[in-house]
Amino acid sequence: VADDDGTLGPAIPKEDFPISRDYVYLDQAAVGLVPEPVAAIMERVTSELARGGTIVLDEYAEVMVLNPTRAAAARLIGAEPGEIAIVSSATEALNQFAWWLKPGPSTNVVVLDGDFPSVILPWLRLSEETGVEVRLVPTRAHPERATAAAIAALVDGRTAAICAGHVQYATGHRLDLGVLADVAAANDAYLVVDATQSVGAVPIDVGQTPVDMLVASSHKWLCAPHGSAFCYLARSMDDFRPPLVGWRGMLSLSDFDGRSLTFLPGARRIELGTISYAAGLALEAGIRYLQRVGLARIARHDLYLCERLAAGLTELGAHILTPTEADRRAGIVTAGFRGRDAEALVAQLRARRVIASARQGAVRFAVHVFNDRADIDHALDVLHDETT
Ligand SMILES: Cc1ncc(COP(=O)(O)O)c(C=O)c1O
Repeated sequence: VADDDGTLGPAIPKEDFPISRDYVYLDQAAVGLVPEPVAAIMERVTSELARGGTIVLDEYAEVMVLNPTRAAAARLIGAEPGEIAIVSSATEALNQFAWWLKPGPSTNVVVLDGDFPSVILPWLRLSEETGVEVRLVPTRAHPERATAAAIAALVDGRTAAICAGHVQYATGHRLDLGVLADVAAANDAYLVVDATQSVGAVPIDVGQTPVDMLVASSHKWLCAPHGSAFCYLARSMDDFRPPLVGWRGMLSLSDFDGRSLTFLPGARRIELGTISYAAGLALEAGIRYLQRVGLARIARHDLYLCERLAAGLTELGAHILTPTEADRRAGIVTAGFRGRDAEALVAQLRARRVIASARQGAVRFAVHVFNDRADIDHALDVLHDETT
């Protein structure tokens, strides 16, 4: 961290996040604050498209419109632009994968039962159809089991896929992607990662840690608005024939000829229909905003403030669910307060302009680029008042 006050210095001016003058916003894991320059791009694109139609976006431009977003997402995770699709949600891509793989009755998939619903639900639905066994690591009852080792313990030669959130949305556990990739490879299983709660907060390099698919929604740590997600599909997935298809995934994208199924090469073949181009372009701007600062520097900042927060919470007698080791967490710290209802406490904090969320019976705090030490200390003071 560059500055003593725990800020990222002039790279992240306070005025880029005006609401952070009046609130201590510790909720990036729910709805991420969008910096002013990114919000301005979204508003400009929305306005220009609404008012200008094909005068500002002709058919050729529409084919290319999300190329900068694919390139930005690729840069962010060490991929090639051809390995990136821009879709409307992480959920959409996770479903595409499950229904493509369609594992049968004598196989299993391994997921964490405390993971974000969209990571689990496609497999449960698929199980109704094919009888695939869905093996659940019981992290709801035992959050400490959100580890690559606990996942590995359920994987065997019949495992078709491991599907997991890189950082667990409720408790902030970060999984070791390198170990997971090794486990998947050793068992000839696919590895699908939902990086929605990690990418933008901690660096990811798919060149170092091979995954088959990695998805991330726009509206958390990437400092972009709702409405888009990126999906990395590894080159090793060239036999991927999307179960759901649409015009934006076809080679005929520009001539609107639907008489044959000829997919675009690379990840774009999973794109379906028109998404909000304003959201897609704002995603590019959000990624660029973070990359100006550098992901390694952001990670150090977020981890440092989380450590300070966790230490203060411990002093208050809270029970911290998130691991303390820096490589096992990212931007989330989740804490339980004995005898206190998490929803009620979150409401009390909100009344005092400290914004967090209740998840799985605990209070989830999320720290990102605009937060500083004063935010953490103020939140701890308010928590002290409200809990003692
Ligand atoms: C881990 C995780 N994945 C996915 C999502 C939602 O993504 P989407 O709505 O783009 O499917 C969320 C949050 O809402 C999340 O926390």
